[in-house]
Amino acid sequence: MTPTISCTDLEVTLPGASGAVNILAGVNLSVAKAEFVSILGTSGSGKTTLLRVLGGLLPATGGEVRCDGTPIQGPPDGVVTVFQDYAHSLLPWRTVRRNVALGIEARLGRAERDERVDEALTMVGLLERADEYPWRLSGGMQQRVQIARALATRPRVLLMDEPFGALDAMTKASLQDQLQQVQSLTETTIVFVTHDVEEAVYLSDRLVVLNGSPADIGLTLDIPLPRPRHQISTKERADYLELRHRVYEALGHTVGEPARG
Ligand SMILES: Nc1ncnc2c1ncn2[C@@H]1O[C@H](COP(=O)(O)OP(=O)(O)OP(=O)(O)O)[C@@H](O)[C@H]1O
Ligand SMILES: [Mg+2]
Repeated sequence: MTPTISCTDLEVTLPGASGAVNILAGVNLSVAKAEFVSILGTSGSGKTTLLRVLGGLLPATGGEVRCDGTPIQGPPDGVVTVFQDYAHSLLPWRTVRRNVALGIEARLGRAERDERVDEALTMVGLLERADEYPWRLSGGMQQRVQIARALATRPRVLLMDEPFGALDAMTKASLQDQLQQVQSLTETTIVFVTHDVEEAVYLSDRLVVLNGSPADIGLTLDIPLPRPRHQISTKERADYLELRHRVYEALGHTVGEPARG
């Protein structure tokens, strides 16, 4: 089967303070339709860089990125990136509804646009806040607006860069479950960057760990935990704990040592 999004022998070199720096080298990743793949790695390992290249926001220096089998040049249709920084992603002078409409208003008529916006806001549980301004909402709600904006475009691929990184544990858990539910309804392909090992194991079908300098994929781990997953019962399973343990080890932690970023 043709993967929805893939990269082969990917290499990325970026300008550094003292010359070009090779950030990624020999990265091979292939993500199937409706698959949920997380990317982990220590700070500065190249996760955001990899996501930007997969989304066509940054050109590869070597190798190839394909979407549905076709080499990409710029952001492919149907591939949407959600960033961590929700506060700067929403337009304060537009209501929630009009923020969510942003990605579709140029190409859809009013009736279809309204229907899509309502559908997306319902999926993230914010339909009743549609006519408010985003700055009146909590951080978690603002992030849900950003996610609704991405969903309104009916993306085939969602690329998410630490989307819940700035949120408290309760809000994070509830957004993880909403994302899980939305994905099972829409069969969106999701590539999800996170620092949070528990989050990656909980949400993913497969996770990869970037390491080295330049970085490549050091560990690939299938997560065969049954779905739907539950915040308490899934995290009590012996196989969940075993998978979590393996990821911590791949990130360089040993038992008894405090976590390093
Ligand atoms: N625009 C840029 N120009 C030059 N170097 C960059 C640029 N963006 C990132 N880098 C460098 O690329 C490396 C990887 O950065 P990247 O942001 O991809 O890491 P990351 O894994 O997402 O880190 P974090 O977990 O802190 O978000 C870093 O050394 C960084 O300094
Ligand atoms: Mg990053």
